[in-house]
Amino acid sequence: MSPALYDSFIADYYDESPIVRQRTQDVAFYRDAVRECGDPVLELGCGTGRVTMALAQMGKRVTGLDLSERMLEHAARKRAALNKEERERFHLVQGDMTKFDLGEKFQLIIIPFRPFQHLLEVRDQVACLERVRKHLRPGGRLILDVFQTDAERMHDPIHMREAPLVEYRSHDGKHVRISERVAAFHRAEQRNDVEMIYTVEHPNGRKERLVFAWPLRYFFRYEVEHLLARCGFRVAAEYGDFDRTPIRDNSPEMIFVAEPGW
Ligand SMILES: C[S@@+](CC[C@H](N)C(=O)[O-])C[C@H]1O[C@@H](n2cnc3c(N)ncnc32)[C@H](O)[C@@H]1O
Repeated sequence: MSPALYDSFIADYYDESPIVRQRTQDVAFYRDAVRECGDPVLELGCGTGRVTMALAQMGKRVTGLDLSERMLEHAARKRAALNKEERERFHLVQGDMTKFDLGEKFQLIIIPFRPFQHLLEVRDQVACLERVRKHLRPGGRLILDVFQTDAERMHDPIHMREAPLVEYRSHDGKHVRISERVAAFHRAEQRNDVEMIYTVEHPNGRKERLVFAWPLRYFFRYEVEHLLARCGFRVAAEYGDFDRTPIRDNSPEMIFVAEPGW
């Protein structure tokens, strides 16, 4: 992934997007995971700190790592609003989840809301999982989530047409409409080129169209299981949603809880 991807306008629109705001069940799930597994916690691809902040507010020791400086700037602003003790337990690091070396081991490593799907190549996925293993304490766990792939939907040309998703008014009075389309399908690479289109009307009437375009890697259940096994992990649990139901045909998510030791 190009480091510039999330260093675009998207960083400033991320937290206010209803798509992100409506995502609360995963935060509750990761909070429970920390209660069960303990800290310190490392979040890979922490973005604006949506999940990391919730964990820091529980009084846990948390490190968030992300490639994007601009996403991290938002996380740093939120960190600054924490009380002194919480701040001291909360670290932000700019880095690549396929290459990091933090010189510290963690009880729990999480990859929430699909940063793993930005790793297009198997060598990057393996490199990330190897880094995770190196950074886990004995008895530590990895939890990552990706969406469950509906193969038919992933290849349906109807999605090449721009389709409205949501609209909202921002805190500073912008009217924002978000739509989405698939620009290209790459079946052999299990990747779609996706565009999220933001049509923005500013309070002074100025209009602009902003496009967040990115290649999205999709996974299948047993592929992830094999990847984990290849990197020395045992799957301790897997869920089809954040309510911990099993993976079924219509499950929206694939959540893997893994621990070293195959
Ligand atoms: C959809 S956002 C998820 C952010 C956050 N985890 C959340 O739940 O809101 C994906 C994040 O992954 C980050 N990312 C993508 N590739 C990365 C990489 N190789 N190393 C570190 N971060 C990466 C992006 O910069 C972005 O902030």
